[in-house]
Amino acid sequence: MSYYKNLFNFKGKNIFILGGSGLIGQEVSKAILDLEGRVINLDIKNDLRKVDKNYKYEYLNVENINKLSKKIFSIIKKYGEPNVFINCSYPKTKDWSKNNFKNISLKSFEKNIKIQLNSSCWILRLFAEIMVKKKIKGSIVQLNSIYGLVGQDMDIYKNTNMSESMSYSIIKGGQLNLVRQMASFYGKYNIRINSICAGGVENKQNKRFIKNYSKKALLKRLAKSSEIASAASFLSSEAASYITGSNLVVDGGWTST
Ligand SMILES: NC(=O)c1ccc[n+]([C@@H]2O[C@H](COP(=O)([O-])OP(=O)(O)OC[C@H]3O[C@@H](n4cnc5c(N)ncnc54)[C@H](O)[C@@H]3O)[C@@H](O)[C@H]2O)c1
Repeated sequence: MSYYKNLFNFKGKNIFILGGSGLIGQEVSKAILDLEGRVINLDIKNDLRKVDKNYKYEYLNVENINKLSKKIFSIIKKYGEPNVFINCSYPKTKDWSKNNFKNISLKSFEKNIKIQLNSSCWILRLFAEIMVKKKIKGSIVQLNSIYGLVGQDMDIYKNTNMSESMSYSIIKGGQLNLVRQMASFYGKYNIRINSICAGGVENKQNKRFIKNYSKKALLKRLAKSSEIASAASFLSSEAASYITGSNLVVDGGWTST
């Protein structure tokens, strides 16, 4: 294989994807399989059901933070060492849509911080520590959002049943700095940690929302999940071997103005 093709190829590598059955996770899984990697999808459901010898699924509920270490060690024993870990999970409470300033309850706020922010901190650290122990030149990618970078624009929710979220901005802001802090600590072990701040992804949203959102994005549309998957594949690959502690903004220019 030629030099540059090789950099983007994952042949012989184990790519653990948390939330690999979701909107973005499914596409990331497909991209990694296309690039010849072995996908181990860790999720509470197996929606991908990809018929591919390189696709494996293991049930994992990341909310059970104190059981994560034991569970991950047993999965690694079964499939082998992780070369890459990508977090595409999105755990949330049933009343997540009420996490706006007017309707949020303290109970829901605390629970969402625990299951989304605390779980991602713990599992990212866990994979980094395993990579250190096994002396792996690993890569970790955390899915993030434009709302880890900027406040939400209230205009895009006008005349829709959607609203802003208090918890989301805190969770995404926390995850963004976690990545920088981890990159700072684990760099000496040859482990790269990066995030992707994605703009809104097409998912059959309300027409009014699509119109309001598209006006603000410089490319005048939402993202396709494949456009986020390409970025995740790049950061995971050797093609990004000198990139760590960074945040790749994939937002059609949303945060540029
Ligand atoms: N969809 C968007 O428009 C968008 C935009 C920007 C950023 N993001 C970010 O991308 C990431 C993925 O978002 P998505 O839209 O693909 O979400 P999604 O809800 O479609 O998928 C999330 C996946 O996580 C899994 N999951 C949920 N709870 C879990 C748990 N407790 N344990 C293990 N797995 C669990 C789900 O089963 C699902 O497969 C999130 O970090 C989100 O904030 C999404």
